[in-house]
Amino acid sequence: MRVLIFGCGYVGLPLGAELARLGHEVFGLTRSGRRDAELRACGVEPLTADITRSDEPDALPRMLDWVVNTVSSNRGGLEDYRKVYLGGTRNLLAWLGAAPPKKFVYTSSTSVYGQTDGSVVKESSRTEPADEPGRVLAQTEGLLLDAARDRKFPAIILRVAGIYGPGRGHLFQQFLKDQARIPGRGERLLNMIHRDDVVASLVTALRSGQPGEIYNAVDDEPVPQIHFFRWLSETLGKNMPPFGPEEEGGKRTLTNKRVSNRKLRMELGCVLRYPTFRQGYTAEVQRLQDAGEL
Ligand SMILES: NC(=O)c1ccc[n+]([C@@H]2O[C@H](COP(=O)([O-])OP(=O)(O)OC[C@H]3O[C@@H](n4cnc5c(N)ncnc54)[C@H](OP(=O)(O)O)[C@@H]3O)[C@@H](O)[C@H]2O)c1
Repeated sequence: MRVLIFGCGYVGLPLGAELARLGHEVFGLTRSGRRDAELRACGVEPLTADITRSDEPDALPRMLDWVVNTVSSNRGGLEDYRKVYLGGTRNLLAWLGAAPPKKFVYTSSTSVYGQTDGSVVKESSRTEPADEPGRVLAQTEGLLLDAARDRKFPAIILRVAGIYGPGRGHLFQQFLKDQARIPGRGERLLNMIHRDDVVASLVTALRSGQPGEIYNAVDDEPVPQIHFFRWLSETLGKNMPPFGPEEEGGKRTLTNKRVSNRKLRMELGCVLRYPTFRQGYTAEVQRLQDAGEL
């Protein structure tokens, strides 16, 4: 397959490497070009462009089979968020409209589910995002689902949970630095997925996902914060963090839900390498120990 990945960061770069390893022809686009050498070393042809600019980049490859959008707005405020997700996706639809690929996968987020009652949420569950960033993502999904319905644009949505893995995982890093606090009674559920399993879910969605469909990408076990910290504390032989005040979401509103991955596993046959945080963080702890960082 001839593949173009928009956004080769924490997820897009290893996705490119994996697709190249599988024998596909892969192009990887970033905004800055700062990862070009790394991309080349993985067998990915680097491209540079800003997807928030409406003029189509000259160097955009044609005759694509698969396209993935893993661009992320990791800095800036809400305006940047809207430009990158909503505006960027609108531009991609325009650029690819004349010659659509066979599959287009977009990494949305489980933050489009606003549930706060700890209920199980699946792809057909209500999406009433609890905050403006979540609403921007829901609107972006809407653009793609409309294009799938009205124009047969082959868009597939992957709703990704909180990503952790090598060097990532906010609560874990806070815990290592003795800066973690257990908010309230620590009952709020965390929905997580290891970076390698996001890559596996993307490859599965490209191969077998159905255009116009949505799949949750999350591991098998939503976990209350306190259980997560207890496991870390026992595994690393460190004290539990102290209790602190109930969480305040900052720019995000806090939700509480159990996101189900049943559709991804049962309909697409995706097999997770790290079905729970325990396997994933065991690997990360081992990696840090091997590197002498723990
Ligand atoms: N992190 C999470 O827990 C989480 C949860 C749910 C969903 N997601 C979604 O998962 C996807 C992957 O996230 P990630 O953590 O891999 O992101 P990341 O590490 O921040 O990488 C983002 C990539 O997008 C590129 N980019 C940013 N703005 C761009 C623009 N205007 N034009 C072109 N490229 C641009 C960046 O280019 P440079 O390398 O030049 O900066 C970078 O390569 C994103 O769609 C994100 O929203 C993440």
